[in-house]
Amino acid sequence: MTQQITVTEHLLLHQKQIPGATGQFTHLFNELILSAKIISREVNKAGLVDVLGFTGEINVQGEEVKKLDEYANRILIHRMARSGVLCAMASEENADIIEIPHGLPQGGYIIIFDPLDGSSNIDVNVNIGTIFSIHRRKSKIGTPVQATDVLQAGDEQVAAGYILYGSSTMLVFTTGDGVHGFTLDPGVGEFLLSHPNIKVPDTGKIYSVNEGYWPFWSEATKKVVNYFKSTDNIHGKPYSLRYIGSLVADFHRNLIYGGVFMYPADHRDPAKPKGKLRLMCEAAPMAMLIEQAGGKATDGNQRIMEIEPDDLHQRVPLFIGSRHEVDTISAIYKEHN
Ligand code: AHG
Ligand code: MN
Ligand code: MN
Ligand code: MN
Repeated sequence: MTQQITVTEHLLLHQKQIPGATGQFTHLFNELILSAKIISREVNKAGLVDVLGFTGEINVQGEEVKKLDEYANRILIHRMARSGVLCAMASEENADIIEIPHGLPQGGYIIIFDPLDGSSNIDVNVNIGTIFSIHRRKSKIGTPVQATDVLQAGDEQVAAGYILYGSSTMLVFTTGDGVHGFTLDPGVGEFLLSHPNIKVPDTGKIYSVNEGYWPFWSEATKKVVNYFKSTDNIHGKPYSLRYIGSLVADFHRNLIYGGVFMYPADHRDPAKPKGKLRLMCEAAPMAMLIEQAGGKATDGNQRIMEIEPDDLHQRVPLFIGSRHEVDTISAIYKEHN
């Protein structure tokens, strides 16, 4: 542990440097931190209480909802709605924009979240996470929130991050001033600064992709993955394959060690012409983090951060990680276009 600085202290120091900062943002973050602690507590004792398994519901993504997906979603919606600084929310688990209930104070921010990422790993005690993306509203406070307030490009995020429920619980976020990682000390119940100013190595030795979908990939995607498996690459030997199946956990490992995470388009039945991951609650926040850490994120042709969303739940192919690996991928797709 480098310094015993809590995440709240870190935010206060940081906020002082932002002209015109009103403290709303710090307030928003404090609610988020509390939600994260509550979810972390529940995840930690998941095997002991009846929170494993499915709810029986199918969400807007067409996926079976796990009890912990729903729990995390409920906690976040409940707490964040009462933060008094939001005008709307959106979640992977809700079809529409979530409005702040009438009578509660509102503010100028919007939060979009994936309440629990890595659902398929919940029941087997493997790392899962929460992802968040924060925007400032564009329309005037006091007027009804517009779809355009929520459907903003990644480049307009004011903050993004994730909580990783791993062997320890970590909060990693950026407010556009580098990427900082905090580890939850369960003894004192505080997130303490453990990874200041994280930088992703310019090249790494890990590739992460669900290679089981190989038969359903385009020739360009097969060429991309072959680059990492062959000896004909920057390292002169195959990369190591690491794939957990929780974006947060796969991303976090590659952020620290260097490497690339990929979720390309495929034509399995039903076909996934834009891959599986969601632009607004998964790809865009991770893209802000990786760029702030010195890495890159693309859909194969375009920076993830530039994509203007037209649907809350739109999906996007994702290639994210160290510069060298993402540049190589972009070059291969360019050749094939
Ligand atoms: P979620 O659990 O929030 O629906 O997200 C699951 C995502 C992501 O975490 C992971 O990278 C990906 O699904 C894994 O998908 P495959 O099982 O198709 O590899
Ligand atoms: Mn899901
Ligand atoms: Mn997810
Ligand atoms: Mn999820």
